[in-house]
Amino acid sequence: MLVAGNWKMHTDRAEAIALARAIVASLGDPSPIRVAVCPPFVNLEAVRQVLEGSPIALGAQNMHHEEAGAYTGEVSAAMLRAVGCRYVILGHSERRQYFGETDALVNQKVKRALQHGLVPIVCVGETLAERQAGQAEAVVERQLQGVLDGVELPSAEALVIAYEPVWAIGTGHTATPDEAQKMHALIRQLLIARYGDAIGRALHILYGGSVKPDNAAALFAQPDVDGGLIGGASLKAADFTAIVQAAR
Ligand code: G3P
Repeated sequence: MLVAGNWKMHTDRAEAIALARAIVASLGDPSPIRVAVCPPFVNLEAVRQVLEGSPIALGAQNMHHEEAGAYTGEVSAAMLRAVGCRYVILGHSERRQYFGETDALVNQKVKRALQHGLVPIVCVGETLAERQAGQAEAVVERQLQGVLDGVELPSAEALVIAYEPVWAIGTGHTATPDEAQKMHALIRQLLIARYGDAIGRALHILYGGSVKPDNAAALFAQPDVDGGLIGGASLKAADFTAIVQAAR
């Protein structure tokens, strides 16, 4: 199981340090659960210092797909590695919705991240309109095939998929455990078809979208739900810790 906190555009430097400290203190030794936090870029270094010596890994929320160059305002995979990141969230629906990211672009980012030994947490998920039109599975399949096109994996540890139905993000409307499991099972089949049985079965598929302390255990109990990508609830150390406990 892996539980990752996506802090989005929250926390200034002092708040990020305080939150990371509170999580380290309240979490203790989370093993065997893997835990990561993904603060805003500018707070990565400060949070890295707090996490040093703890079992909590550091992740970023985005990166540029090119190696380096004249891309004002952007951050590269190498920069993220140098600041101590193990994970990078790619293709989050907010990146797709507000910044026009496409499957093809996310695909380039995934390849670049892998070249640098970063573990991409690649997000897929349908909108409410797509679900209501009966297209949820087709949308997720198209996204998954697009972002993984030509992506080779050395091992199941190299990549994480996050299923985040857009209608569940920040809305309080969580997918039911059954809805989540159905989509995760489809994603699992597609991963097995692409990467073979051993890697396909071992890849982590996280659920994201209004995961809270009171619904986490039921979601994590589903056979193909291998943890969660947590937004709002990751900004409170007590809630985040309770969600990690629910993954045990
Ligand atoms: O990446 C996590 C996220 O999009 C879910 O957000 O606030 O619904 O937990 P939230």
